[in-house]
Amino acid sequence: PSKITKIACIGAGYVGGPTMSVIAQQCPHIQVTVVDLNVQRIAAWNDPDLSKLPVYEPGLDEVVGEARGRNLFFSTDVDKAIHEAQMIFMAVNTPTKTFGVGRGMAADLKYVELCARQIARVADEDKIIVEKSTLPVRTAESIKTILESETKGIKFKVLSNPEFLAEGTAIEDLYKSDRVLIGGDEDEDGQIAIQALVDVYANWIPREKIITTRLWSSELSKLTANAFLAQRISSINSISALCEQTGADVDEVARAIGMDTRIGSKFLKSSVGFGGSCFQKDILNLVYLCHHFNLPEVANYWEQVVILNDYQKHRFAKRIIDKLFNTVSGKKITFLGWAFKKDTNDTRESAAIYVADELLQDRAEIHIFDPKVSEEQVHSDLVYLQKHRRSQATAYEYEEITSEEIKKLVVVHTDPYSAMEKAHAIAVLTEWDEFKTYDWQKVYDTMLKPAFVFDGRNILDRTKLTEIGFNLHSIGKG
Ligand code: NAI
Repeated sequence: PSKITKIACIGAGYVGGPTMSVIAQQCPHIQVTVVDLNVQRIAAWNDPDLSKLPVYEPGLDEVVGEARGRNLFFSTDVDKAIHEAQMIFMAVNTPTKTFGVGRGMAADLKYVELCARQIARVADEDKIIVEKSTLPVRTAESIKTILESETKGIKFKVLSNPEFLAEGTAIEDLYKSDRVLIGGDEDEDGQIAIQALVDVYANWIPREKIITTRLWSSELSKLTANAFLAQRISSINSISALCEQTGADVDEVARAIGMDTRIGSKFLKSSVGFGGSCFQKDILNLVYLCHHFNLPEVANYWEQVVILNDYQKHRFAKRIIDKLFNTVSGKKITFLGWAFKKDTNDTRESAAIYVADELLQDRAEIHIFDPKVSEEQVHSDLVYLQKHRRSQATAYEYEEITSEEIKKLVVVHTDPYSAMEKAHAIAVLTEWDEFKTYDWQKVYDTMLKPAFVFDGRNILDRTKLTEIGFNLHSIGKG
């Protein structure tokens, strides 16, 4: 079919939810059904109260409010959605394997494989299958093999259409994508399938921004994009360590180099380290692929980006302990922020989790305020880490902390001032805008002295806080 009127998307997460909502909003003539096995998640997507959507993204509530019930539907009936759609997106999670072959490195493709098997079983008409999840290069081949295993005489075309949105700005990014990338087979059927997907995006994306490539280039471009982005952060973070030793200021260095148009000014903000569900996972996936294809030098080159990031998180935690006279045991340490970046409720791989874990090794009492993250989420992130540690190159000495201890030592507040009251130290872990405008004099007055602040995002006003009397430590400032 060249004119698509029914789309299904398997996976109603941070990618499936926002991307499909925007497609539905921009293409009122296309019926879009997003399905998921997770019943609670689907119920939240259908909640009449738009502030209860399972994904927090600025502007998402309005988009869903406009399209839901019109041509946008959220459902748990996966078979029905597969059956009806001409085009099926796979936006399921592809986490790092936590066991078996490739543990701690390779992408776990079990969810993708299950989707492919389900499609193969249910479909009784030709379908276009779109890889929206980030996948190792050549996954489309495996998907095709599975799809074609049920010989029913129907045709499947597999396209790769990786998603480049950034959490926190997803809606803006989807409206004005830098580019949309579609990879497909070079034969005639492949070209027809590509054109069908181009036509969907062309409803709001200018044609010249929609680029088409071979399947393998498209799959590999997504891993490469994330590797390059993360590499910039690790590069500037490596320099931040040198700045702290020498008295140079990493923000000044970033500004100076960023004005060179060959380097560019974006993505040069030094911090406690990158987080999020993608960068680390996708680089490890790339590293694994390189080893698989017997390219150890290439693998080691990219692995260093992750190792440096582990080091940056560790350095931050260690600095807190060092400055607090070499122990945080029994001390109240307040975290401002738990999400991996501002304007999202996503906490996956957030630097905060690792910094908290390292302070908990010394039995600190951690008090947290984040505008969008619940206590349940914080506790479950810490419990999860105890079971699924990667053998990090820069591993600190650790022991497993029990769930009981986590519940006892980690308190989540709904008011930032109560979180900071009587604290020995405050650590900024997420760059939420509201942290800049707190009444810092009031905070200072209620804290224990010396009042330490560790700004892991370099967002606070250094002059002002120092004048108030804070003992302020920023990233990459000697
Ligand atoms: P997520 O974990 O938020 O969502 C995935 C959803 O798929 C879950 O709700 C899960 O229940 C569902 N699911 C898994 N298997 C299923 C099945 N067989 N049938 C029905 N539903 C199933 O993951 P997220 O963040 O949306 O990521 C999805 C993919 O997109 C990943 O491959 C990721 O690498 C990629 N990606 C993520 C970006 C992000 O910012 N989070 C950006 C670009 C790509």
